[in-house]
Amino acid sequence: MVYNRLSDLDFSLDALPAMKRPSGVLMTSPDHFDVTYVINAHMAGNVGTVDADRARSQWASLKDAYVACGLSVTEIRDRSDLPDMVFCANQTLPFLREDGTRGVLLSKMYAAERAGEVTYFRDHFGALGYEIVDEVAKGDSEFEGMGDALWHSGRRLLWGGYGFRTEESVYRLISEKLDVPILLLGLKDPEFYHLDTCLCILDEQTALIYPAAFQPDGLELVRHFFPKIIEAPEGEARELFACNAHSPDGKNVIIQRGCTDTNSALIEAGFNVIEIDTDEFLKAGGSVFCMKLMTW
Ligand code: ARG
Repeated sequence: MVYNRLSDLDFSLDALPAMKRPSGVLMTSPDHFDVTYVINAHMAGNVGTVDADRARSQWASLKDAYVACGLSVTEIRDRSDLPDMVFCANQTLPFLREDGTRGVLLSKMYAAERAGEVTYFRDHFGALGYEIVDEVAKGDSEFEGMGDALWHSGRRLLWGGYGFRTEESVYRLISEKLDVPILLLGLKDPEFYHLDTCLCILDEQTALIYPAAFQPDGLELVRHFFPKIIEAPEGEARELFACNAHSPDGKNVIIQRGCTDTNSALIEAGFNVIEIDTDEFLKAGGSVFCMKLMTW
């Protein structure tokens, strides 16, 4: 089932099956990361400006932050012809079935420049014995994995963003294939082109959002399901990708350095803030959340 608005709802969060938090972190090595084309508003003006050494050291700091949070990081090797492959939130949507089966649903990338990335993730997860769901990848509608589809913390419930990279119509098939309800969120600002640029689910009760990026019906759904909302100010959300932060454990929040107001609100809400620099990756329109994939 997919849900567009509050009045469509026929379930409550408590009634949904619990789902454990993913504990595996996958990152793509950053050796060939670059801005060589423009497929989102942030990349414009940044072609050829990436400092490769800086990018590598920022990537290593992010990896260290996950390790410091007690998680183990697996790496997949990037390819010279795929400069955005480092953003490994986008090629798949990992899932955990109620019977404990682990799988990934493969994306159908929006831009031809990134289409070649998906196969490396299929091979990686296939070799590990994950169930591979490829109907979306073979279909006509675009879908960009965990850029747009975010699991509610602790429950079998998916949030589905659409409007720029992912098509709304794809979510019916995803709901069917994964046997999960999906709450749809229309996006309206091209600088917030993936759901993970404006919604960061911190725990079952709390979300960090940039409200102006959502269509009204979706924003109402977000406010309904999260009794605690932290709003990032426009400058931090737009320039520093504050909402592209990530909490791997419901306690620590890894976030781009300099999100002063957001960080104060996070600390007040009881989170521990870990600031890292991702500004080389911001040139390509991505930050913390985009640079890793959480897996079961
Ligand atoms: N340059 C990449 C693109 O436009 C950035 C992807 C960022 N990923 C994300 N999950 N928001 O596709």
